[in-house]
Amino acid sequence: MPFKTKLTRLLSVDHPIVLAPMGGVSGAALAKAVSTAGGLGLIGASYGNREWMTAELAGMESFQKPWGIGLVMFTVIKQMELLHLALSYRPHVVALSFGDPAPFIGPIKDAGAKVAVQVHDLDQARTALSCGVDLLIVQGCEAGGHSAGRSSFPLIPAVRDSVGESIPIIAAGGVGDGRGLSAALALGADGVMMGTRFAVTSESLFSGKVKAHLVAAQAKHTVRTRAFDIVRGIDWPLGYSGRVIANKFSDAWIGREAELQTCRDEVGVVYQRAVEQDDLDFRAVWAGEIVDLIHDVRPASQVVKETIAEAEKASLAVSKFIITE
Ligand SMILES: Cc1cc2nc3c(=O)[nH]c(=O)nc-3n(C[C@H](O)[C@H](O)[C@H](O)COP(=O)(O)O)c2cc1C
Repeated sequence: MPFKTKLTRLLSVDHPIVLAPMGGVSGAALAKAVSTAGGLGLIGASYGNREWMTAELAGMESFQKPWGIGLVMFTVIKQMELLHLALSYRPHVVALSFGDPAPFIGPIKDAGAKVAVQVHDLDQARTALSCGVDLLIVQGCEAGGHSAGRSSFPLIPAVRDSVGESIPIIAAGGVGDGRGLSAALALGADGVMMGTRFAVTSESLFSGKVKAHLVAAQAKHTVRTRAFDIVRGIDWPLGYSGRVIANKFSDAWIGREAELQTCRDEVGVVYQRAVEQDDLDFRAVWAGEIVDLIHDVRPASQVVKETIAEAEKASLAVSKFIITE
């Protein structure tokens, strides 16, 4: 039983599975692998780095399946030429997160792409809808990387009730396999965005060392913090923090963020050197609670295929729990 939803119809894809636009992790190889497998691959351009974007977007030239790109709004708004660079490669979808979508909608629609906006509460969902977005990404705080305070289970149906039936909703955060896909559809979503699971695939740009670290990690090892944003000098809006695998750096600075702010320049130099060496004691390895469900590194196509097969099984399994007499 294939899962045909408003999402698959709007995007002309086979499966309601979207690759999260993970900064520096979702490059051309991973995006193409997910799209080729029938989902929607999104390049993770994140805060916007021209050199990185140009290299990865070049990999999408002449790619025939639907694909897209994700941008973080509060940084890209200061360098809108990067939006135009992305649009010049003719993505089918631009996924916007963290910021005000209004200034982005016109240029994206003029370029013929669909606009997806990630939201974290009901107010943001209504605002995005009033801006004329094509898709909503509803993100819960189980997610890897940055999120706000609400968890997916109550948030997805509340957004669905609030925005009505016609707009496709993509559930992000806490989906690691087909059981999560099946549950998200039951809650009122039309598909899922998976980040942490795809970060641990053969095509992800994470190093082998980081992937092995994530295979060994558990949800109890994750923490939410702004310490890595402070040390990187990224001025995140209030209300957001990033879920990451705890390490010596987070152990040292969680609870001492104000102090970190004052010595950011010197700690930042040490931090940057550690990142270049892929030092797991220092560098941020963003990961969500579904890390408990990851036991190996697999090709992205296998993740897509098995997620669909498991979702079919999970949907059938639900009926077994229903007592009819
Ligand atoms: C390694 C990693 C990097 C991420 N980077 C970004 C990013 O640059 N921009 C963004 O909007 N979201 C980013 N996210 C969040 C994802 O877009 C998505 O919301 C999240 O991964 C979904 O939850 P899951 O990890 O439980 O699948 C990142 C997530 C991970 C795991």
